[in-house]
Order: sequence, then structure tokens, then C-alpha cells
Amino acid sequence: MQCKYFTKATDLAKWIIEKKIKVGSVVVDATVGNGHDTFYLAEKVGKEGKVYGFDIQDSALLNTKKRLVNNNVFDRVELIKDSHEKLDAYVKEKVDLVIFNLGYLPGGDHSIVTKPESTIKAIEKSLLALKKYGILLVVAYYGHKGGKEEKEKVENYLRNLDQKQFNVLKFDFINQINNPPILFGVEKKG
Ligand SMILES: C[S@@+](CC[C@H](N)C(=O)[O-])C[C@H]1O[C@@H](n2cnc3c(N)ncnc32)[C@H](O)[C@@H]1O
Repeated sequence: MQCKYFTKATDLAKWIIEKKIKVGSVVVDATVGNGHDTFYLAEKVGKEGKVYGFDIQDSALLNTKKRLVNNNVFDRVELIKDSHEKLDAYVKEKVDLVIFNLGYLPGGDHSIVTKPESTIKAIEKSLLALKKYGILLVVAYYGHKGGKEEKEKVENYLRNLDQKQFNVLKFDFINQINNPPILFGVEKKG
């Protein structure tokens, strides 16, 4: 039997984006991949907004660019071929939201995955870049080799954030066996 409301972590992430992102918002997609989130965000921020998108794979950036151009939203997107841990070298303004999808590129090379050390550095830099009430979303896919270790390191890092500065949540289906993705969310306090 399917669920109607408790569906998946990515749906909750979308719901949060819906609430938070408006025309004119500035956002970062830290793991562009096939560009689904980049496109979704580009539509939400409108012409007045801006999306910075990072990926280390040419194929991901190429597919994403095509998707954005075909849908007439490339004008507000900057695609960056570099690791998200260098976020501060490219994003020189405060941002409303940063999203990460950890893991490998669906349909791509499954050996190219996000790695705990660079992910945590990038998360650290993202938190610095957030505006007041800015939001960080991390969707952790962890069924692959190294995924569990990354998820645990990310969780450990987020768990230790100062509660005076950040509110941190974890959304996890605790009775499912097939490693469904987990959502971590951080809101920067005012
Ligand atoms: C789970 S996929 C992202 C899926 C994407 N959100 C979508 O809509 O298709 C993870 C992506 O992160 C990218 N990646 C891995 N390490 C990275 C890094 N250090 N910096 C930026 N992107 C990275 C991979 O190349 C891959 O495309």
C-alpha cells in the first residue's frame, strides 16, 4: 500500500523549498547531477533570482545546461565545474538556501560519489553563506559503498552545531530496510 503524506525525504525537501523560496531568492544547488533540483529552483527564483550550481562532472553540467536552456531558465543560473567545498570562491553574496543530494549521479558513473571530507567542508561554507533564517537541506542517499560513513559523518557534524545559532532536523524512515534517503535540514537562527 502506498502512502499519501509520509512519502519520501525529497518530498519534504520540496515542501520546504516551496515555503522558503520566492522570486528574487538566491540559492545554491551544491550537487547539480541531472539538474532536477537546479531546474526546480531556477523556476522558483524567477528572472530576478539566482541559482549557483556545482558539479565536478562535465556530463552532469552539460545535461543540466540543456534542460535549463530548453526550458528558458538558464539566464538566472551559473553552473560551476568545481567541487562544492570551494563554494566561497564563487558565491560572494549571502544566500537563502543551499541543497545537497549526496551520492552518485543516477545513470552515470557510480564510482564518482560525494565524499565526507569535501561534503563537510562544503556544508561548513554553506552555513557561513546563509542569510538569517536561511536553510540548508542535505538529502543523503547512502546505499552505496562509503555512503553510510558519509551520512554518519554529516549527521555527527550537524548534531554538534550550536543550538543558539542553528536549528537542525533529521527526517528518517526508521522501519524501512532499503536505505531510503534521509533529509537533514538546518535553519540559521535570526
Ligand atoms: C546524487 S547526485 C545529484 C542528483 C541531482 N540533484 C539531480 O537532480 O539529478 C550527486 C552529484 O554530486 C556530484 N558531486 C560529487 N562530488 C562533488 C563535489 N565535491 N562537488 C560538487 N559536486 C559533486 C556528482 O558528480 C553527482 O552528479
